[in-house]
Amino acid sequence: MSAPTTSLIGELIGKSIPHESARLHVSGAARYIDDLPEAAGTLHAAAGLSTCARGRIRRLDLSAVRAYPGVRCVITAVDIPGENNCGPILHDDPIIAGDEIQFYGQVIFAIAADTRDAARQAVRLAKVEYDTETPILDMDAAIAAESWVLPPFAMQRGPVDAAFANAPHHLSGTAVVGGQEHFYLEGQISYALPKDDDSLHLLCSTQHPTEMQQLVSHALGWRAHQVSVEIRRMGGGFGGKESQSAQWACLASILAVNTGKPVKIRLDRDDDMIATGKRHGFQYAWQSAFDDSGRLLGLKLDMASNCGYSADLSGPVNDRTICHIDNAYYLDAVALNSLRCKTNTVSNTAFRGFGGPQGMFVIETVLDDIARHLGRDPLAVRQANFYDVVPGARSTTPYGMVVEDNVAPALVAELAASSDYAARRAAIAEFNASSPVIKRGIALTPVKFGISFNATHYNQAGALVHVYTDGTVLVSHGGTEMGQGLYTKIRQIVAHEFGLPLADVRLSSTDTSRVANTSATAASSGADLNGKAAQNACLNIKARLAAFVAELNNAAVDAGKVRFSNGRVQAGDAYDVPFAELVMAAYRARIQLWDAGFYRTPKIHFDPLTKFGRPFFYFAYGASCSEVAIDTLTGEYRVLRVDLLHDVGRSINPALDIGQIEGGFIQGMGWLTSEELWWKTDGAQAGRLMSHAPSTYKIPTASDLPEIFNVRLYDNANVEDSIHRSKAVGEPPFMLALSVFFALRDAVASALPAGTPVQLAAPATPEAVLRALTANQDKAP
Ligand code: MTE
Ligand code: MOS
Repeated sequence: MSAPTTSLIGELIGKSIPHESARLHVSGAARYIDDLPEAAGTLHAAAGLSTCARGRIRRLDLSAVRAYPGVRCVITAVDIPGENNCGPILHDDPIIAGDEIQFYGQVIFAIAADTRDAARQAVRLAKVEYDTETPILDMDAAIAAESWVLPPFAMQRGPVDAAFANAPHHLSGTAVVGGQEHFYLEGQISYALPKDDDSLHLLCSTQHPTEMQQLVSHALGWRAHQVSVEIRRMGGGFGGKESQSAQWACLASILAVNTGKPVKIRLDRDDDMIATGKRHGFQYAWQSAFDDSGRLLGLKLDMASNCGYSADLSGPVNDRTICHIDNAYYLDAVALNSLRCKTNTVSNTAFRGFGGPQGMFVIETVLDDIARHLGRDPLAVRQANFYDVVPGARSTTPYGMVVEDNVAPALVAELAASSDYAARRAAIAEFNASSPVIKRGIALTPVKFGISFNATHYNQAGALVHVYTDGTVLVSHGGTEMGQGLYTKIRQIVAHEFGLPLADVRLSSTDTSRVANTSATAASSGADLNGKAAQNACLNIKARLAAFVAELNNAAVDAGKVRFSNGRVQAGDAYDVPFAELVMAAYRARIQLWDAGFYRTPKIHFDPLTKFGRPFFYFAYGASCSEVAIDTLTGEYRVLRVDLLHDVGRSINPALDIGQIEGGFIQGMGWLTSEELWWKTDGAQAGRLMSHAPSTYKIPTASDLPEIFNVRLYDNANVEDSIHRSKAVGEPPFMLALSVFFALRDAVASALPAGTPVQLAAPATPEAVLRALTANQDKAP
């Protein structure tokens, strides 16, 4: 045990402590699954992918695959001992396609071989013939064919028709926003190790170990207690390893059980991009009714999402979209249609923001258009639409929740001042007036993001805390570490509770055999849920130790007055011993030194059928101001300056939180600017993903960072009793990137005749900017 340090209670929470694996990350010593030593006899798996987007397999000849040197096992759909499904909610995701092919890149067989190279060479030798059908490749085609993964949902709140009849102004418009590839640096990987008596241990890069346990056991025709799933860390997940890790987990497990050997599958980057789901692209058509100030009186919104071939998480993703079309704005009367399109493309899934960004994108577009139509500053129009600060007439969301903690107006005002928004807007107007080719633009947009899983039952967590007799602590919890710093925060929380230095607290890997029935680490709630569960376990142990201290002192000290700090346990002047000494004494007195903790989020409920309730415990807020310059001859642009102000409540770890804000913002910027997914639309290869590698799919790089990038935390303790009054931070900052898109829209607008509606597609690639500069010329007022 390390010597007691000066880390006093209160010195760990709110401190910028480095990520618990930072040194391992930068030195290359952090072990990811593929870095672990392989067990003797390990086989390597690869999957054969379809080369047709829609149709049936007429002939599948795998003889050359089987004959390839080193190939030990070849499986098709019929070789799956249990259920052929890896879908998380509906059972419509085959692990291996049977006869029916639903997208280009679907798994049609899998093999295990002595080496990874042999496996990858061998899968290419399959001879497949298809009876092809015309694939449905986009939302328009799906809508025309009424092709849905889930039934359409319609909802109306408030007097929509009356609002439209009485409003002084009306506008309508359309918009599209593309999907997004997760581009986690560590691709999908699973390593299945058969154990004795029909059991299996699975190492899996996943955000959802419990779901992997369930799906693997179903696929094997086993029961849950036969499978354990473990993950120490992922090299990024971003939502792409919530459900999307399951197919590979199942394949490795089936092959491992079939061969009796350990089997590892690690996808090649191209296969990973082709065969795993992405963010949902959306398209929208709306009509708005508003007053002279730009305040919305009514909104009619039709939106469609591209779900791909199966439901996956599309239901909850689209629900979150519906719960975020308001963003920070009060919608008095809204009629909504939400279509969940089934297409012959990969099945789309969770991605940072989980549909929220697609909801906020459209309302920001609606308000931006209104501002331009009225010739008003878009920021003023946004501000005119905010929810009330003190709950009142303008406080209820379309899904029935009252916004009680609204800091958006104050936060936005603070950012407008600190970013010098008004003066810079004037300077930009002046610059643009004398600059015919380069045009600048600026935008300031807010974020309000609901925290909690919409599915209420997911809002629970467990933890297991072991205090060893030397006074050191080992913590297990249900959350997974994907780089976001969850383990670091839990370590701070536990060390703080026991008053121990960080070095005395370690986190074990996340394992379904230590903490059961866990939720996905998702919806940004990892630290909220698991932090409270871990704290709960600590409090149980502390209560027992405090009672023991009272007993030791013949009740001369009050158990309630026992303090754990500075590596010691104290009770007034009477008692003061090192933590480790007390723990050893407690052990000898047969006091339980470990405990489980549990947490369930209070106050929340949500009816998924009516989309009504109080789905969120609280909201996280933020705002961003971006300035861009576009070249109107080429469509190229630069982001010149970005100011972010973001609400993480009372931060547990400001360094980690700022890292999440910066990373989320840049990832959001990629979604809205450079990351373009492109599928072949016709010919024999229709439906083939052409942007399937870093060469053809452009994520932001260091050189895309804004030249000036100011990031600050907004001082604001959570009004709800969250862990140390902090707020979730994983996803909300993603949507700060909306300001980049609306700054580009602003720059485009300044190159068009005043009042011309801007038709800028997202991602706003240079090509899209150029198209926007020539679109709508006929609609100039
Ligand atoms: N940060 C890093 N470095 N890597 C990731 O994969 N995933 C994001 C976010 N931040 C991610 C990340 C997503 S999609 C979510 S939901 C949250 O982290 C999950 O972790 P949390 O609940 O602990 O915030
Ligand atoms: Mo995050 S999309 O909720 O994994």
